[in-house]
Amino acid sequence: MTRHHKVLHNATVIDGTGAKRYRASVCIDSDRITDIVQHDTAMPVLEADQVIDASGLVLAPGFIDAHTHDDLLLLKSPDMLPKASQGVTTVVTGNCGISLAPMQSRKIVPPFDLIGDDSDFAYPSLSQYAERLDDTPASLNSVMLTGHSTLRLETMDRLDRAASRAEIATMAHRLEKSLKEGACGMSTGLAYPTASHAPTTEIIELATVLRDFGAVYTSHMRDEEDHLLDAVEETLQIGREADVPVVISHHKACGRHNWGKTRQSVAMIEQARATQRVDLDVYPYTASSTVLLAEFVARSEKVMITWSKSQPDCSGRDLADLATEWDLTIGDAIDKLNPAGAIYHQMDDEDLHRVMQYAPSMIGSDGLPKDERPHPRLWGTFPRVLGHYCRELGLFTLEDAVAKMTGKTASVFGIKQRGTISVGNYADLVMFNADTIIDRATYDHPTETSAGIEMVMVNGDIVYGGSQTTDARPGRFIRH
Ligand code: ZN
Ligand code: CU
Repeated sequence: MTRHHKVLHNATVIDGTGAKRYRASVCIDSDRITDIVQHDTAMPVLEADQVIDASGLVLAPGFIDAHTHDDLLLLKSPDMLPKASQGVTTVVTGNCGISLAPMQSRKIVPPFDLIGDDSDFAYPSLSQYAERLDDTPASLNSVMLTGHSTLRLETMDRLDRAASRAEIATMAHRLEKSLKEGACGMSTGLAYPTASHAPTTEIIELATVLRDFGAVYTSHMRDEEDHLLDAVEETLQIGREADVPVVISHHKACGRHNWGKTRQSVAMIEQARATQRVDLDVYPYTASSTVLLAEFVARSEKVMITWSKSQPDCSGRDLADLATEWDLTIGDAIDKLNPAGAIYHQMDDEDLHRVMQYAPSMIGSDGLPKDERPHPRLWGTFPRVLGHYCRELGLFTLEDAVAKMTGKTASVFGIKQRGTISVGNYADLVMFNADTIIDRATYDHPTETSAGIEMVMVNGDIVYGGSQTTDARPGRFIRH
């Protein structure tokens, strides 16, 4: 009889494909799943150096966070507690047009301050960033998108205009280099001032570079409010004309008068899926979070300040209250606080439920780890989907919920041999209690770990258990 390294004994396996759960013991040797022994009748006897009792618990593929801004967190806080404590084993970085690499140290502008300060942008190529992670790994794996705004800031003297022919050629060259070095795609943040002046043609030309690499185009679209449907159409057009798969980031409808529009946007996506590859990610909250911008404030019900460079004491305060206290207009209060970040309450439950229930959607946190007082999505996203939206509200089966955070995400981003439990795959796994799993992070207490996550394993090593991270740093930068 072979003696295995580790056996997860008597687990309820939910394998990440959406298939029905089954009872099995899962064997792990070095960094791989080497055997899955289903228990139809009698319990098998398996020999192992370490036997972990999984009775009564769900064993699923480690969650893949489809949308993160963890580029710097992987380097600065390698235990990755906010994510490991949710059962996440791989993060997709470089979203919303802003990736930490490739960029030389320079004076950054918002929204780059969401992910780092001037001196943090110290990786002139993706390989330099990747090598840093090879040398000093984090607990979790990562794949990286190359940000369009990153390419622009690196290439252009000013960002409030379209790129010239020569600049597009330079950006295309830099993008190609990043892709050769292992980037899994390109992201845009067309709603931000760093990219909002880029015409559709600029994006199509750059996205065309992705085609030969089998890489994806992801987009924080130009508009998620009054012109949401136009923005969806633009994203689909970019995918068609560049002939590449697209991912719509954090899909939502912002502002009360736009509530209900996801009915049409989801129908557009569904129709497009007949002829092109289009996917989407979503986070399970009705408030968004990013830098403090007047146009985002205008369509919000309520705005909470998450950080402010000039008024650090205002973290956690309500913007309207501050304006009253200071006897200023909202606009002047924004100026006084900037540069700053905020949480915007501006979405409707019904839209959120619709997007989450839509079969192709993937779960991504969009968490902002640099924020002093972050949106709770950074710490709570995955247990919230499983505990609140699946168990309590019954929006989908547990099998479907798990697939939205594992198998589906791996296939969209081309992450090989991860995202499903099968023999030969990497042992990225999470063991959780389906009856108790729930997020505990709230807007008032945003950095609480979740309940019900019993064990998290990355490449065969345990990185989280007993409510704390271990010293293991088995994470890999996965080159596409
Ligand atoms: Zn975004
Ligand atoms: Cu984002």
